[in-house]
Amino acid sequence: MRVVLLGAPGAGKGTQCKRIVDKYGLLHLSSGDILRQERAAQTELGKKAQSYMDSGGLVPDEVITEMMASAISKSPHSGFVLDGFPRTVEQAVELDKLLALKGKKIDVVVNLKIADEEVAARMTGRRSCPECGAVYHIENLKPKVEGKCDKDGTELIQRPDDSPEVVKSRLKTYHEQTEPVVDYYKNNGTVYDIDSGESADEVSELIFKRLNALGEA
Ligand code: AP5
Ligand code: MG
Repeated sequence: MRVVLLGAPGAGKGTQCKRIVDKYGLLHLSSGDILRQERAAQTELGKKAQSYMDSGGLVPDEVITEMMASAISKSPHSGFVLDGFPRTVEQAVELDKLLALKGKKIDVVVNLKIADEEVAARMTGRRSCPECGAVYHIENLKPKVEGKCDKDGTELIQRPDDSPEVVKSRLKTYHEQTEPVVDYYKNNGTVYDIDSGESADEVSELIFKRLNALGEA
């Protein structure tokens, strides 16, 4: 199964991807997580991405497409769930071309829908594991031990791009550049709209129901 998760910042892409991966054994490929690892390692790619990420804009298409093409082709798994990519119509077109070369395609797109007002509260309370990318919330999805990742015990951090000003800019970027990707996929395949304003468990249930039905079809 090759799945794309779309949605605004804070819609729950990372949270739900981890659950999809645990249930279906797919590979989780998050463009944001890969960029953050590159930044932490201060690679050329990481340095290039830094200013775009800190301002809430998008890293240029050609840089991202190359990075994700490499991650997909290096993967030993044939099934994956993409989180944060594609984020422009140009990226979606390039992804389709890349998969078509191997006789493959995206099977399903899950579109997590969330109101802009809800996003701010999610972002200010988010805590992330810099090691494994696991995501928590200080009220909604608490770790077992405060401030520590459940999986590896690493100290949780607040992402620098979660400040209210940068979140505003990320939402603007999402509406202008990523929302058209939903229409691109609606014209080219199967898109499931999911109300992501519900609790994380309810959202997972809705996603699993859709993915199970796809597996049975
Ligand atoms: P990226 O890391 O992809 O950030 P994003 O899209 O802004 O999404 P987030 O990770 O902020 O949100 P999420 O949907 O994963 O939500 P989460 O599950 O954490 O990208 C960062 C930057 O990298 C971009 O701004 C850009 O510069 C660059 N970039 C990345 N990909 C790119 C690309 N393809 N092209 C160009 N540039 C690119 O949940 C949020 C919070 O809410 C958490 O605290 C969570 O616990 C909580 N929560 C989750 N679900 C629920 C729920 N149902 N109810 C209550 N709380 C919930
Ligand atoms: Mg994320």
